[in-house]
Amino acid sequence: MPNLDAKSRGKFITFEGGEGGGKSSQLKRLSAYLTEKGIDHIVTREPGGSDFAEKIRDLILSSDKDEIDPLTEYLLFSAARRHHVKSIIEPALFTGKWVLSDRFYDSSVVYQGLSPEPINQVDLGYMAATYDRVISVKREDGSINKVAPDMTLIFDIDVRVGLTRAKKVTAESTNNNSASDHFESKSVIFHQKVRDGFLEHYQNNKDRCRLIDASLDLDAVFSQVQKNIEVIFS
Ligand code: TYD
Repeated sequence: MPNLDAKSRGKFITFEGGEGGGKSSQLKRLSAYLTEKGIDHIVTREPGGSDFAEKIRDLILSSDKDEIDPLTEYLLFSAARRHHVKSIIEPALFTGKWVLSDRFYDSSVVYQGLSPEPINQVDLGYMAATYDRVISVKREDGSINKVAPDMTLIFDIDVRVGLTRAKKVTAESTNNNSASDHFESKSVIFHQKVRDGFLEHYQNNKDRCRLIDASLDLDAVFSQVQKNIEVIFS
Protein backbone atom coordinates (compact mmCIF):
# COMPACT_ATOMS: atom_id res chain seq x y z
CA MET A 1 0.00 0.00 0.00
CA PRO A 2 1.57 3.34 -0.95
CA ASN A 3 2.44 5.48 2.01
CA LEU A 4 0.69 8.74 1.23
CA ASP A 5 1.47 11.89 3.16
CA ALA A 6 -1.37 13.78 4.81
CA LYS A 7 -1.78 16.05 1.77
CA SER A 8 -2.30 13.16 -0.61
CA ARG A 9 -4.87 11.41 1.53
CA GLY A 10 -8.43 11.35 0.33
CA LYS A 11 -11.04 13.67 1.81
CA PHE A 12 -13.65 12.37 4.19
CA ILE A 13 -17.08 14.01 3.74
CA THR A 14 -20.08 13.11 5.87
CA PHE A 15 -23.77 13.79 5.25
CA GLU A 16 -25.99 14.43 8.25
CA GLY A 17 -29.46 15.61 9.23
CA GLY A 18 -32.93 14.47 10.22
CA GLU A 19 -35.58 12.74 8.16
CA GLY A 20 -36.46 13.85 4.64
CA GLY A 21 -33.63 16.32 4.10
CA GLY A 22 -32.59 14.41 0.99
CA LYS A 23 -29.00 13.81 2.12
CA SER A 24 -28.83 10.36 0.54
CA SER A 25 -29.82 11.54 -2.92
CA GLN A 26 -27.48 14.54 -2.66
CA LEU A 27 -24.72 12.13 -1.72
CA LYS A 28 -25.37 10.12 -4.89
CA ARG A 29 -25.29 13.33 -6.87
CA LEU A 30 -22.00 14.39 -5.36
CA SER A 31 -20.61 10.95 -6.13
CA ALA A 32 -21.57 11.38 -9.81
CA TYR A 33 -19.97 14.84 -9.80
CA LEU A 34 -16.71 13.51 -8.31
CA THR A 35 -16.67 10.73 -10.92
CA GLU A 36 -17.02 13.39 -13.64
CA LYS A 37 -14.08 15.24 -12.12
CA GLY A 38 -12.03 12.01 -12.05
CA ILE A 39 -11.88 11.87 -8.26
CA ASP A 40 -11.61 8.31 -7.04
CA HIS A 41 -13.97 7.78 -4.12
CA ILE A 42 -16.18 5.36 -2.26
CA VAL A 43 -19.74 5.79 -1.01
CA THR A 44 -20.69 4.32 2.32
CA ARG A 45 -23.11 4.70 5.21
CA GLU A 46 -23.68 4.36 8.94
CA PRO A 47 -24.73 2.40 10.77
CA GLY A 48 -23.13 -0.17 8.48
CA GLY A 49 -20.69 0.28 5.63
CA SER A 50 -18.76 -2.99 6.09
CA ASP A 51 -20.27 -6.49 5.99
CA PHE A 52 -19.82 -6.90 9.73
CA ALA A 53 -21.14 -3.42 10.55
CA GLU A 54 -24.17 -4.06 8.34
CA LYS A 55 -25.02 -7.01 10.61
CA ILE A 56 -24.85 -4.68 13.60
CA ARG A 57 -27.03 -2.21 11.67
CA ASP A 58 -29.71 -4.88 11.25
CA LEU A 59 -29.49 -5.68 14.93
CA ILE A 60 -29.90 -2.03 15.99
CA LEU A 61 -32.63 -1.07 13.57
CA SER A 62 -34.71 -4.18 14.13
CA SER A 63 -34.44 -4.12 17.90
CA ASP A 64 -37.25 -3.17 20.19
CA LYS A 65 -36.41 0.05 22.07
CA ASP A 66 -37.37 -1.60 25.34
CA GLU A 67 -34.94 -4.43 24.68
CA ILE A 68 -31.74 -2.38 24.59
CA ASP A 69 -30.89 0.58 26.79
CA PRO A 70 -29.35 3.77 25.31
CA LEU A 71 -25.79 2.90 26.33
CA THR A 72 -26.06 -0.56 24.76
CA GLU A 73 -27.37 1.05 21.61
CA TYR A 74 -24.55 3.63 21.55
CA LEU A 75 -21.95 0.91 22.04
CA LEU A 76 -23.43 -1.03 19.13
CA PHE A 77 -23.23 2.09 16.92
CA SER A 78 -19.62 2.50 18.10
CA ALA A 79 -18.71 -1.13 17.44
CA ALA A 80 -20.16 -0.85 13.95
CA ARG A 81 -18.28 2.44 13.44
CA ARG A 82 -14.99 0.96 14.59
CA HIS A 83 -15.25 -1.88 12.10
CA HIS A 84 -16.32 0.50 9.36
CA VAL A 85 -13.44 2.92 10.06
CA LYS A 86 -10.80 0.21 10.31
CA SER A 87 -11.82 -1.96 7.38
CA ILE A 88 -13.31 0.51 4.89
CA ILE A 89 -12.78 4.22 5.60
CA GLU A 90 -9.17 4.38 6.72
CA PRO A 91 -7.79 2.08 3.98
CA ALA A 92 -9.65 4.12 1.33
CA LEU A 93 -8.41 7.49 2.62
CA PHE A 94 -4.90 6.11 3.00
CA THR A 95 -4.76 5.16 -0.66
CA GLY A 96 -5.96 8.61 -1.72
CA LYS A 97 -9.65 7.85 -2.26
CA TRP A 98 -12.32 10.21 -1.03
CA VAL A 99 -14.98 8.78 1.27
CA LEU A 100 -18.60 9.98 1.24
CA SER A 101 -20.53 8.64 4.19
CA ASP A 102 -24.27 8.86 4.77
CA ARG A 103 -24.09 9.63 8.52
CA PHE A 104 -21.19 9.21 10.95
CA TYR A 105 -20.45 10.19 14.56
CA ASP A 106 -22.46 13.45 14.45
CA SER A 107 -25.59 11.31 14.29
CA SER A 108 -24.53 9.66 17.55
CA VAL A 109 -23.99 13.06 19.15
CA VAL A 110 -27.45 14.24 18.11
CA TYR A 111 -29.54 11.06 18.45
CA GLN A 112 -27.82 9.57 21.50
CA GLY A 113 -25.89 12.42 23.20
CA LEU A 114 -28.48 15.15 22.74
CA SER A 115 -31.27 12.57 22.57
CA PRO A 116 -34.71 14.15 22.20
CA GLU A 117 -35.73 11.94 25.14
CA PRO A 118 -33.57 13.22 28.06
CA ILE A 119 -33.82 9.92 29.95
CA ASN A 120 -32.08 8.26 26.99
CA GLN A 121 -29.17 10.68 26.75
CA VAL A 122 -25.72 9.13 26.75
CA ASP A 123 -23.01 11.17 28.48
CA LEU A 124 -21.32 13.34 25.83
CA GLY A 125 -17.93 13.23 27.58
CA TYR A 126 -17.98 9.44 27.57
CA MET A 127 -19.04 9.47 23.93
CA ALA A 128 -16.21 11.81 22.94
CA ALA A 129 -13.68 9.56 24.69
CA THR A 130 -14.91 6.38 22.98
CA TYR A 131 -15.08 8.20 19.64
CA ASP A 132 -11.44 9.15 19.97
CA ARG A 133 -10.55 5.45 20.32
CA VAL A 134 -12.94 4.35 17.61
CA ILE A 135 -11.34 6.61 15.00
CA SER A 136 -7.72 5.93 15.99
CA VAL A 137 -6.11 3.45 13.64
CA LYS A 138 -2.58 2.26 14.21
CA ARG A 139 -0.56 1.85 11.03
CA GLU A 140 2.25 -0.63 10.39
CA ASP A 141 4.89 2.03 11.10
CA GLY A 142 3.35 2.61 14.55
CA SER A 143 1.82 5.97 13.69
CA ILE A 144 -1.77 6.67 14.68
CA ASN A 145 -4.19 7.88 12.05
CA LYS A 146 -7.27 9.71 13.34
CA VAL A 147 -10.08 9.20 10.89
CA ALA A 148 -12.34 12.23 11.37
CA PRO A 149 -14.42 13.95 8.69
CA ASP A 150 -12.82 16.87 6.82
CA MET A 151 -16.25 18.33 6.16
CA THR A 152 -19.77 17.55 7.34
CA LEU A 153 -22.82 18.74 5.44
CA ILE A 154 -25.91 19.07 7.63
CA PHE A 155 -29.16 19.02 5.64
CA ASP A 156 -31.67 21.17 7.44
CA ILE A 157 -35.38 21.21 6.69
CA ASP A 158 -38.67 22.06 8.38
CA VAL A 159 -39.72 18.91 10.24
CA ARG A 160 -43.19 18.55 8.76
CA VAL A 161 -41.91 19.07 5.22
CA GLY A 162 -39.09 16.58 5.88
CA LEU A 163 -41.40 13.92 7.30
CA THR A 164 -43.80 14.23 4.39
CA ARG A 165 -40.88 13.79 1.98
CA ALA A 166 -39.48 10.85 3.97
CA LYS A 167 -42.84 9.07 3.96
CA LYS A 168 -43.09 9.51 0.21
CA VAL A 169 -39.59 8.08 -0.32
CA THR A 170 -40.33 5.16 2.03
CA ALA A 171 -43.59 4.37 0.25
CA GLU A 172 -41.86 4.45 -3.15
CA SER A 173 -38.95 2.32 -2.01
CA THR A 174 -39.28 -1.37 -2.75
CA ASN A 175 -36.55 -2.45 -0.35
CA ASN A 176 -37.94 -0.65 2.65
CA ASN A 177 -36.30 -1.94 5.84
CA SER A 178 -36.90 -1.87 9.56
CA ALA A 179 -35.18 1.52 9.98
CA SER A 180 -38.54 3.15 9.47
CA ASP A 181 -40.01 1.21 12.38
CA HIS A 182 -37.32 2.12 14.84
CA PHE A 183 -36.60 5.77 14.09
CA GLU A 184 -38.91 7.26 11.46
CA SER A 185 -42.10 6.35 13.28
CA LYS A 186 -41.35 8.80 16.10
CA SER A 187 -43.48 11.85 16.81
CA VAL A 188 -43.10 15.26 15.21
CA ILE A 189 -41.86 16.57 18.58
CA PHE A 190 -39.07 13.97 18.53
CA HIS A 191 -38.02 15.01 15.03
CA GLN A 192 -38.17 18.71 15.95
CA LYS A 193 -35.75 18.00 18.79
CA VAL A 194 -33.48 16.11 16.39
CA ARG A 195 -33.49 19.16 14.12
CA ASP A 196 -32.72 21.43 17.09
CA GLY A 197 -29.93 19.02 18.08
CA PHE A 198 -28.32 19.24 14.66
CA LEU A 199 -28.59 23.05 14.67
CA GLU A 200 -26.99 23.21 18.12
CA HIS A 201 -24.26 20.82 17.00
CA TYR A 202 -23.65 22.94 13.90
CA GLN A 203 -23.22 26.06 16.05
CA ASN A 204 -20.58 24.26 18.12
CA ASN A 205 -18.70 22.85 15.10
CA LYS A 206 -18.74 25.58 12.49
CA ASP A 207 -15.13 24.95 11.52
CA ARG A 208 -16.05 21.55 10.06
CA CYS A 209 -19.83 21.58 9.57
CA ARG A 210 -21.77 23.38 6.84
CA LEU A 211 -25.50 23.97 7.06
CA ILE A 212 -27.40 23.18 3.86
CA ASP A 213 -30.89 24.59 3.30
CA ALA A 214 -32.60 21.39 2.20
CA SER A 215 -36.00 22.99 1.65
CA LEU A 216 -35.02 24.26 -1.81
CA ASP A 217 -35.37 22.30 -5.05
CA LEU A 218 -32.85 19.52 -5.72
CA ASP A 219 -30.65 21.60 -8.04
CA ALA A 220 -30.49 24.50 -5.61
CA VAL A 221 -29.57 22.15 -2.77
CA PHE A 222 -26.88 20.57 -4.89
CA SER A 223 -25.33 23.93 -5.77
CA GLN A 224 -24.87 24.53 -2.04
CA VAL A 225 -23.18 21.12 -1.75
CA GLN A 226 -20.97 21.87 -4.74
CA LYS A 227 -19.99 25.32 -3.45
CA ASN A 228 -18.87 23.88 -0.14
CA ILE A 229 -17.01 20.95 -1.68
CA GLU A 230 -15.19 23.16 -4.16
CA VAL A 231 -13.49 24.89 -1.24
CA ILE A 232 -11.75 21.57 -0.60
CA PHE A 233 -10.46 21.36 -4.19
CA SER A 234 -8.87 24.80 -4.04
P1 TYD B 1 -31.38 5.04 8.09
O1 TYD B 1 -32.39 4.18 7.44
O2 TYD B 1 -29.98 4.94 7.56
O3 TYD B 1 -31.92 6.50 8.14
P2 TYD B 1 -31.68 7.80 7.31
O4 TYD B 1 -32.21 7.51 5.94
O5 TYD B 1 -32.44 8.81 8.06
O6 TYD B 1 -30.19 8.06 7.32
O7 TYD B 1 -31.40 4.73 9.64
C1 TYD B 1 -30.43 5.15 10.47
C2 TYD B 1 -31.04 5.68 11.75
O8 TYD B 1 -30.06 5.51 12.78
C3 TYD B 1 -31.35 7.16 11.66
O9 TYD B 1 -32.64 7.42 12.14
C4 TYD B 1 -30.37 7.81 12.60
C5 TYD B 1 -29.95 6.70 13.51
N1 TYD B 1 -28.55 6.80 14.00
C6 TYD B 1 -28.31 7.02 15.35
O10 TYD B 1 -29.26 7.14 16.14
N2 TYD B 1 -27.03 7.09 15.80
C7 TYD B 1 -25.95 6.94 14.96
O11 TYD B 1 -24.78 7.01 15.40
C8 TYD B 1 -26.22 6.71 13.57
C9 TYD B 1 -25.06 6.54 12.61
C10 TYD B 1 -27.53 6.64 13.13
